[in-house]
Amino acid sequence: MSTEANEQASSEPEYAAQTKAIGSVVYFSSVSQNTARFIANCELDKLGMNVYRLPLRRSDPAVHIHEPYVLVVPTYGGGNPKKAVPMQVKQFLNDPANRMWIRGVIASGNTNFGEAYCAAGDAISAKCHIPYLYRFELMGTPEDVQAVQRGLVKFFADLTAGKVDVPGMQEAIKANEQRALVH
Ligand SMILES: Cc1cc2nc3c(=O)[nH]c(=O)nc-3n(C[C@H](O)[C@H](O)[C@H](O)COP(=O)(O)O)c2cc1C
Repeated sequence: MSTEANEQASSEPEYAAQTKAIGSVVYFSSVSQNTARFIANCELDKLGMNVYRLPLRRSDPAVHIHEPYVLVVPTYGGGNPKKAVPMQVKQFLNDPANRMWIRGVIASGNTNFGEAYCAAGDAISAKCHIPYLYRFELMGTPEDVQAVQRGLVKFFADLTAGKVDVPGMQEAIKANEQRALVH
């Protein structure tokens, strides 16, 4: 399979959709692994989602995504909303080829941080012009797991039905069609 010179091959998901794929989730989790535990509890692969984990270290291979995804991001500003988005997530979104596929964001955090609780979600929603779908604390509760499972299935169904308007989506679809032509 050939790809254009400036285009990276898609990364392998950590959990691959076990049924026909309905959408994807990209997440980051640091050494404390709260978000990783939440994602594992959601079992999104069984609901038809590909799940990709962003690398912790600069030396790890970068992730490249060419499909619509919802980003799940923990907040790391230490109370400063301007520093809320983890460096690893910024790096991933700074690649326009990744950023063009983001469709929604879910954030996590710790209510001890008051006003800055889950501020990474506000920052990414504003910057990428995508809906802020949900937020949860630490590794989430069983209710959070259920809400995210149901919410994502509905969100991807609405997205496929054209009921969610995300700026840049038509351009992304067109780019994907072009890509399909060169393969
Ligand atoms: C250094 C540090 C700074 C943090 N800053 C914030 C913050 O500004 N707002 C917030 O809601 N949570 C904050 N948190 C809490 C984390 O978002 C929370 O622990 C999250 O579950 C971490 O996810 P992870 O274990 O998957 O990396 C901070 C945690 C650490 C360790």
